[in-house]
Amino acid sequence: MKKLLDLLSEEIGQAFEATGYDAALGKVTVSNRPDLCEYQCNGAMAGAKQYRKAPVMIAGEVAEKLADSKVFKEAAAVAPGFLNLKVSESFLLEYVRDMAAAEKFGLEISPNPGKIIIDYGGANVAKPLHVGHIRSAVIGESIKRICRYAGHEVIGDVHLGDWGLQMGLVITGLKERNPELVYFDENYQGEYPKEAPFTISELEQIYPAASARSKEDPDYKARAMEATFRLQNGDRGYRALWRHMMDVSVADLKKNYGSLNVEFDLWKGESDVHELIPELVSYVKDNHYAYISEGALVVDVKEETDTKEIPPCMILKSDGASLYNTTDLATIMERMRLYQPDEIIYVVDKRQDLYFEQVFRCARKTKLVPPGTELKFVGFGTMNGSDGKPFKTRDGGVMRLENLIRDTKVEMLRKIREGREMPPEEAEKVADIVAVAALKYGDLSNQASKDYVFDIDRFTSFEGDTGPYILYTIVRIKSILSKYRDQGGDTGRALFRQAGNESEKALMMELAGFNAMMQNAAEEIAPHKVCAYVYDLANAFNHFYHETKILAEEDETRRAGLIALLDLTRAVLEACIDVLGFSAPERM
Ligand code: ARG
Repeated sequence: MKKLLDLLSEEIGQAFEATGYDAALGKVTVSNRPDLCEYQCNGAMAGAKQYRKAPVMIAGEVAEKLADSKVFKEAAAVAPGFLNLKVSESFLLEYVRDMAAAEKFGLEISPNPGKIIIDYGGANVAKPLHVGHIRSAVIGESIKRICRYAGHEVIGDVHLGDWGLQMGLVITGLKERNPELVYFDENYQGEYPKEAPFTISELEQIYPAASARSKEDPDYKARAMEATFRLQNGDRGYRALWRHMMDVSVADLKKNYGSLNVEFDLWKGESDVHELIPELVSYVKDNHYAYISEGALVVDVKEETDTKEIPPCMILKSDGASLYNTTDLATIMERMRLYQPDEIIYVVDKRQDLYFEQVFRCARKTKLVPPGTELKFVGFGTMNGSDGKPFKTRDGGVMRLENLIRDTKVEMLRKIREGREMPPEEAEKVADIVAVAALKYGDLSNQASKDYVFDIDRFTSFEGDTGPYILYTIVRIKSILSKYRDQGGDTGRALFRQAGNESEKALMMELAGFNAMMQNAAEEIAPHKVCAYVYDLANAFNHFYHETKILAEEDETRRAGLIALLDLTRAVLEACIDVLGFSAPERM
């Protein structure tokens, strides 16, 4: 479906043309003076020079032409040359009716949809998920859903950190605790046990202890590096231990991500491309993309236009070890082979910005990606505490994601209990759903690249620009709809009617902006635009709700029309929160 603003612009454009001006001047925008008009067009100002005429005269001629427009009920030329516009109720009605009947509310699906891989999550095996990972998961999941909704084929990959030094550290830590384990017996030939020799909580104790120790004890660190090397080079016992770490960790990660409605299509990781590294190395060597510098194998990636120094991309260290870069490049190689994506989007902490710049340049220069494939970095800012520093636990430690979710659920439950009577079991279920919305909306409503303050009290509030406010609005609509049904009304067959008051018209105009908003959010990879829209829509609805009798409306056809509008509002709000990655309960 065409976008409302485009249709309005067409109508004005025709009026410009009919009065002898360029139709392109007829660009309509939402009014920045809603007290004066709904839409505006500044084309007369833009055309004044070209036509050597006072803008207000041009605007006046165009306004006159629009006098019997079916699209605008009012078009006024005002000094110094603006066109103040009000859309006609009948035109708006037709638009809203069409949108309700159209697939995806009239969102235009790209005629040549792309294949997109989204690299997000980025959890590290054997390390607990911390709040730093929440943003990647929450933002990445929403980007995935938005792009899918816009018609693209999207593959989400968690890209686990499952192959680096942290694995060697865990092996070394475990060996100290349980040297008797069969995995450490070099002469052992038999099969290894099916059960892991540790639980997830043990694993999560072993890693930080080993990591801390390696920082103080160079010998310990050397042993961990040696263990990493042996693991990567196929030591049977170490590989078997690694498998256990993967199984135990991934099961736990799935549970945690699952509680945030975050799902991945691929559970691949750095380890998956290990075998590709020798091939990558010979490829860059044979094609003379790489050279040896101080023993290391590097690819130059600086460009003439650089204003800051971009260091070369290192493929192998002088001791022959591969690096984070190397895995990312090998992963690009694998993704191109297996999926031929048109785009790969990385949702990673913005402090890795320069790193990805190097990787992307290197991938282009070495022709690992064809010119038609885009590599995009969506860097996100830090989630801070109220002190403006990265969010910590009360005693200053790293906050685990699991605990953050738990705390939010507890606070949400408290607020729900405070306000209403609800059986305890239901209250708990509802609190879980609303808490996820509170967390996710609190994050997504900020532009991803910005830092934000995690404010549990504000995020869980039912008022203001919050997840619970949006859900509360949806639940309110659902409850009116269900009362209507209880009274024998049929929401499915209800028919739209022309707006009966200003707030109803404002709600219809807000709804009509859905397709343009969603297309823009997908093009700009911007979940915060969906948040801004749902907030405006929820406000428009609540305003309308306070001004309008709905179930008490006596005129039956008018009541049915209002119900149709409610049902459309609910459906649009729910489509929006679905792409944001949360859902609404039936009651709250
Ligand atoms: N595991 C990494 C970390 O915790 C994030 C991975 C990001 N993705 C990537 N392709 N490098 O920092």
